[in-house]
Amino acid sequence: MTATQPGGGLEATGGSVRVVRDRAERLFTWSYERERPQLVNLYNKAAASQWNSVTDLDWSCEVDPERVTTDEPPVVALARRAAQIPGSPLAAWGERQFVELRVESFKAQLSQFMHGEQGAMMTAAKLVETVPWIDAKYYAATQTMDEARHTEVFARYLSEKVGEPYPMSPYLQGQIFGLLEDSRWDIAYLGMQIIIESLALAAFGDLLRRTSEPLLRQLLRYVMADEARHVAFGIVSLNELYRGLTSAELLERQEFLLDNTIRNRLRAATPEVWDRMGVNLGEVMPFLAQAAAETGAGPLATFQRAFFSKLVPNVAKLGLLDANDGWLRSRWGEAGLLEFEHGDDTASDFERYDAVAADRAAGSLS
Ligand SMILES: [Fe+2]
Ligand SMILES: [Fe+2]
Repeated sequence: MTATQPGGGLEATGGSVRVVRDRAERLFTWSYERERPQLVNLYNKAAASQWNSVTDLDWSCEVDPERVTTDEPPVVALARRAAQIPGSPLAAWGERQFVELRVESFKAQLSQFMHGEQGAMMTAAKLVETVPWIDAKYYAATQTMDEARHTEVFARYLSEKVGEPYPMSPYLQGQIFGLLEDSRWDIAYLGMQIIIESLALAAFGDLLRRTSEPLLRQLLRYVMADEARHVAFGIVSLNELYRGLTSAELLERQEFLLDNTIRNRLRAATPEVWDRMGVNLGEVMPFLAQAAAETGAGPLATFQRAFFSKLVPNVAKLGLLDANDGWLRSRWGEAGLLEFEHGDDTASDFERYDAVAADRAAGSLS
């Protein structure tokens, strides 16, 4: 069996690939008319704001993973508090272990970024094949390139500057593989361009605020410039599609959003971090939960606020808050999410995020 046959190819990978079966149909179009000026504009911006990970970033710097963020991640603050609780498995921890936890959670975060970026690359490639409009196919092709570059820079940063990556979290696998398998092309859009891209913008923005490491800062600024455009692509495309859907079809999309945001609220941090720290996850969880309850904040509270302040206004723009007599509005209202309805405007804000264009205008990028 040669490596080009499916079975032989998989065997040759030594278990490092996973098969995902896509149920969506591929659409070839004969209509080459540029009928969607907003998508034409985004495509032209994407072409003009390409950057090169090898020549536009300075990889020569030394990075100290213990000092890469200016403050401790929330999980370390929680662990410090949990260590004070009688009977805690962290009771014997000294400063060394807290510093190690800090490095391991940074590594875990970058690892999920890297896996998520590959998922984004695969989803963008799926959109090239499944979306019926030529302007959207063109745009998704530029996004596929953007996401390849994002995957590549996080993988390189991890391997050269930080250390052994973590596996993809089961939560992220469930979310991304579901999009890749779905027969409805707009669900891949909604899940990736609206939910995961909003999540990525919030997470990258949070890390950018917390780091003074120059290479990571530059990399995040350029990645975010691309991501903001990707969110805008989703909103422009879905706005058009959702105007033509029935109430029943819109309800499916509303249910998808509710399901995914609730799952997001329950998502756990990479559990393998605790394995690497030599701590049993089941034993430490009750103490972390008690510490979180005492401080009145979950480990992702600040970051989740940033996420919802991007997501909720975008969903409102798509008409999905108010469709079906406000079905999603009342449910998100019960979950306390409506305070974010007038948060960030990422649909039109992508130019403000364009650090690549800004650096080119300033002459610091060729
Ligand atoms: Fe990306
Ligand atoms: Fe993206």
